[in-house]
Amino acid sequence: MTTTLTIANQKGGVGKTTTAVTLAHGLVRKGKKVLLVDLDPQGQCATILGLKPEPGAFNLLVAEHPLATVIRATDREGLFVVLGDRKTSVAQTVLNVQRSPISFTQSKIAAPAAKDGIDYVIIDTSPSVGELQEQALWAADGVIIPCAVDYLASDGVFNIAITLKRIHDESGWKGKILGILPTFYDSVTRESKATLQDLQKRFENLLLPPIHRATILRECAVEGKTIFELDPSSRAAAQYEQLVAYVCAWGK
Ligand SMILES: Nc1ncnc2c1ncn2[C@@H]1O[C@H](COP(=O)(O)OP(=O)(O)O)[C@@H](O)[C@H]1O
Ligand SMILES: [Mg+2]
Repeated sequence: MTTTLTIANQKGGVGKTTTAVTLAHGLVRKGKKVLLVDLDPQGQCATILGLKPEPGAFNLLVAEHPLATVIRATDREGLFVVLGDRKTSVAQTVLNVQRSPISFTQSKIAAPAAKDGIDYVIIDTSPSVGELQEQALWAADGVIIPCAVDYLASDGVFNIAITLKRIHDESGWKGKILGILPTFYDSVTRESKATLQDLQKRFENLLLPPIHRATILRECAVEGKTIFELDPSSRAAAQYEQLVAYVCAWGK
């Protein structure tokens, strides 16, 4: 069975791409077969993995190439990718005007991925709002919402939660919020602690253990390596490892 997880928050710079790539690689290290799909025009999943951005998402969703022709194997065994680049913004525009069914993106990815024996599809999304983001959410069995705990974190979470309720009520979405992942946590600052407490109060058992602010995660993007490659003994690696374990146990 394939589980699709979408990483979403309408705010930028909250750790979506870092989480998508790290989770994908973490699951691969557990022996899972994983497909990472980059639906952000910034194409940064490629950069973090040390690959070149390419119009995979555009070719899949606009040119309607089959998944088999846009999917790439990587040299991390078990990790497959559909990369993105600036042309993904064309896909965003086209989907906004095309009035395709909300299930369109899911139908292009999930069914063929299941046939290929993919255990997890991880979808990284852009901070903008529109049809592509909604289709990416609708495709999800589980949604992970990373939120930086340093500024108005709960606003971003509420916005996604409202969208999810709407696609549940209006379009029969059957997924769930897997969890809210506090990121950029800094146990020294009062703001971080207060924001985390606020999230805890509002979202209770949906709140996952936080990922601390860690410069090493920034370096990963520069080096084109995941934290499990650059510094597997770091606290950041241990915290993401915990997320991987939670995801493996989720829905079982
Ligand atoms: N926990 C963290 N601590 C410090 N830097 C981080 C952390 N998570 C991500 N980053 C860095 O912050 C920037 C934004 O993260 P990114 O994952 O690209 O966010 P988003 O995809 O939500 O825009 C990147 O440079 C990334 O390397
Ligand atoms: Mg991103």
